[in-house]
Formats: sequence, C-alpha cells, structure tokens
Amino acid sequence: MASVLAAKTGTGAGIEAVAGLLACPACKTGLAVGVATIDCSGCGASYPIREGVPLLAIRGTSDTWGEPQGTTQSEDYQAAYERVDRAVTYNQKYRAELLKRSSTRREYQLLQRHVARVGRSRVILDLPCGGGRLTPAFAHAADLVIEADIAIGQVLYGRVDSSVATPRFWMTASAFHIPLVDDSVDGAICVRLSHHLPTAAERERLLRELLRVSRRFVIMTFFDHHSLKNTLRRLTRPFNHKPPKMTMTIAGVEQLARASRARVVAAPMLSPIGSGHRYALIVKDGVGV
Ligand SMILES: C[S@@+](CC[C@H](N)C(=O)[O-])C[C@H]1O[C@@H](n2cnc3c(N)ncnc32)[C@H](O)[C@@H]1O
Ligand SMILES: [Zn+2]
Repeated sequence: MASVLAAKTGTGAGIEAVAGLLACPACKTGLAVGVATIDCSGCGASYPIREGVPLLAIRGTSDTWGEPQGTTQSEDYQAAYERVDRAVTYNQKYRAELLKRSSTRREYQLLQRHVARVGRSRVILDLPCGGGRLTPAFAHAADLVIEADIAIGQVLYGRVDSSVATPRFWMTASAFHIPLVDDSVDGAICVRLSHHLPTAAERERLLRELLRVSRRFVIMTFFDHHSLKNTLRRLTRPFNHKPPKMTMTIAGVEQLARASRARVVAAPMLSPIGSGHRYALIVKDGVGV
C-alpha cells in the first residue's frame, strides 16, 4: 500500500491558507491552529492533526443536529473508507468501472461547464472528495481547493494519487457539520453523496450545510426520482425486490435551495438513459450567471 501512496505527490497549501475560514464543526466558533491540534475556545473541543490532515469530522447523523435518529441512516457508510487500504481498493475499482462506462468523462464536462458559468473562484470546497477523482475537472477555476471527506483513508489516498497545479488543502469533515465559517468559500462541489443518504432529513441537512458555507454556488449531484432509470427500478421492484434508490426531485432541490436563499439554474442529467444522476448548479440569490 505504501508504494501506491508514495507514487505521486500533490501540491499542498499550508494550514495558514485556511486558518481564517475554519470553524468548530460542533459549535461553529472560530478555531485556533496549534502544532499538533486545532482547538475551539467556544466548546473546548480539540481536534488532532494526523499526517498534516486536521481531523475535523464529526461522525453521526440526525441526532447530532437535534433531529430524531431514524433506524436506517448513513452511519455505516461514513465508516466505510476510514482505512487507507479500503480507500485504495475502492478508488481503483471505482475508477476502472466508471472509465469503462465513460461517465467520468461526462462528469468532467458537466463540472467544467458549471464552473465556467460561475466564473473564477478564490476557494472551492470539494466535499466529499473521495480519492480526488474529479479534482482535475474544476481545480483550474480556483486559487485554492479544499478537499474534504469524512474518511481519512480517502483523504490520504487522494492527497498523493491526484495531482493538479492549484494548491490544495486536505482535511476530514462531515458534510453534515462542515468545519467552515458561513460564506467562507466561493463554492462547494458535492458529487455522489446525496444518493447514499437514506433519509430526507440527511439530504436536506447536506444541502443546507453546503449552501451555508458557500458565498456564490453549490454543485450537487442527486439521483432523480423521476429519471427513467428510477422509474424502471420502481416498476420492476415487485419482481426483483431490489431496494429503492435514495432519490430527490428537481422541485424538492429547488424548494430546499429557496429556503437557503439560492436557486437551481441547471440540473443536467449524467445520461438520460444510463444514469439517474443529475448535476445541479445552485447559485445564491444575487449571483448572476
Ligand atoms: C461515492 S464516494 C464519491 C467521492 C467523490 N465525490 C467522487 O465522485 O469520486 C462518496 C464519499 O462520501 C464519503 N462520505 C460518506 N458520508 C459522508 C459524510 N457524512 N460527510 C462527508 N463525506 C461522507 C465517503 O467516505 C466516500 O468517500
Ligand atoms: Zn466548538
């Protein structure tokens, strides 16, 4: 595993590049950066730094933001790529499969189109970054990219596996408790997370948090309830008993965006037949595109 992780190096930005943007994921107070820990004067929490990566992820779902905890939520998924070897296996397999389906090329096109529409950014947050698969599609449009994932395994893998010229900063973070100040980044990119979240409360929380930290835009994928893929899945379910997909609708995403003073300006499909995913571009009110 070490040889895989030592194969390439990334361009790292020091913590001073983001120090003023960080907020305690638990209480949202600004954080003081020390040598081995990052400390919160508001609630007294102390967050370790591992191999240069601040561990700012709070695990857990709706009980951590004061809503009732359901029986089927995404906690197990949060733990799936904690180990670096699992992240390596996952990324290699996932990339091979996606390349085979050519959908990564299409994802690059959609991301490039969306970031071109919103113009240059000072800071873009990629959450969850996974193994950094998509970073080369948008990094050119920012002065700094913050790459974050709940799993340290993914972050450590992505730090050495993907390479772009734009300086990057890596940290662990939960998308339900993003450790950043309100309006601290130009935009947040969130690809292939919402369809892993079983409850509406989690999906709503995700978009609210992304829009809280973003000054101008959010790019978020979701699995469209009304897509052909999902319609076929629903119709064939009585026969093959496949579990239902975790879906959202354009109207539902629009309603959530409006509640955070934002609007959906585009939501192209990844593929009209082969995929149910949409790439939504959501901009804050007052942002012209
Ligand atoms: C399917 S991968 C997508 C990664 C990347 N966006 C891509 O498209 O290649 C989903 C990622 O979400 C992370 N994850 C799961 N729950 C999360 C949460 N609550 N907050 C942040 N990341 C989470 C997982 O560790 C995993 O790396
Ligand atoms: Zn705190």
